[in-house]
Amino acid sequence: MPDKVTAPKIRAMKGREPIVCVTAYDAAFGEIVDEAGVDIVLVGDSVGNVCLGYPNTLPVTMSDMVHHTAAAARGVKRALLVADMPFGSYQASPAQAVDSAIALVKAGAEAVKLEGPFIGAIRAILAAGVPVMGHLGLTPQSIHAFGGFRIQGKGEHAKVLCRQAHELEEAGVFSAVLELMPAAVAKDLTESVGYPTIGIGAGPDCDGQVQVLHDLLGFSTTVFKHARRYLDGREQIQRAIEEFAGDVRKGSFEPGSGA
Ligand code: KIV
Repeated sequence: MPDKVTAPKIRAMKGREPIVCVTAYDAAFGEIVDEAGVDIVLVGDSVGNVCLGYPNTLPVTMSDMVHHTAAAARGVKRALLVADMPFGSYQASPAQAVDSAIALVKAGAEAVKLEGPFIGAIRAILAAGVPVMGHLGLTPQSIHAFGGFRIQGKGEHAKVLCRQAHELEEAGVFSAVLELMPAAVAKDLTESVGYPTIGIGAGPDCDGQVQVLHDLLGFSTTVFKHARRYLDGREQIQRAIEEFAGDVRKGSFEPGSGA
């Protein structure tokens, strides 16, 4: 097996090698995604949308994240396993952030990701020995403040993102996700910080790209602009189940054969 990926190794990939990050939320998909050779498996709080049936990430709890992180950790061997800190698990105080990050590490995470410039929280988690990935731009936990899923960093607002990107650098993140911002802004940020940026809906010039597994595999009916489907998973899975149902109903189902 190739060498284990660590947070310092991801940090050192900037300018050398594009970084590949895909989400996974359980052991089975954690193993498949890991064996496909990605650099980072992210147990995203997108688990709320894609697995738990919520309309957004806000209802996701620490107990959801601990459960799904522990499951994914049982499947992932080589990639760096990063767990999202859910809404309400770090905003109150640096002490709360440290407690939450430690709970995720105990479940198997090797780094945590949190949204926005919560510099006190980031510094405190780092001081506890846990690597931190930042997340700027459209940070879905703030959708109510943004008034919906809107592109960030347009016009003068690019300066705010630039300031936040530098604050994250001073705090010591090993990488950061840039979500839904103009490609030119993401390119500027990527060129002006020392840590690798990992884009989603942020153009081609980030140091890496992240996709939500269910979007990449075509499990949902919605096709997002920032996503690309590499499989029509929903149709293929439904076809396989329909075939099984047909065999059972015809009385011709026999185990032990097939694709
Ligand atoms: O929760 C998630 O899956 C994420 C990615 C979209 C970056 O934060």
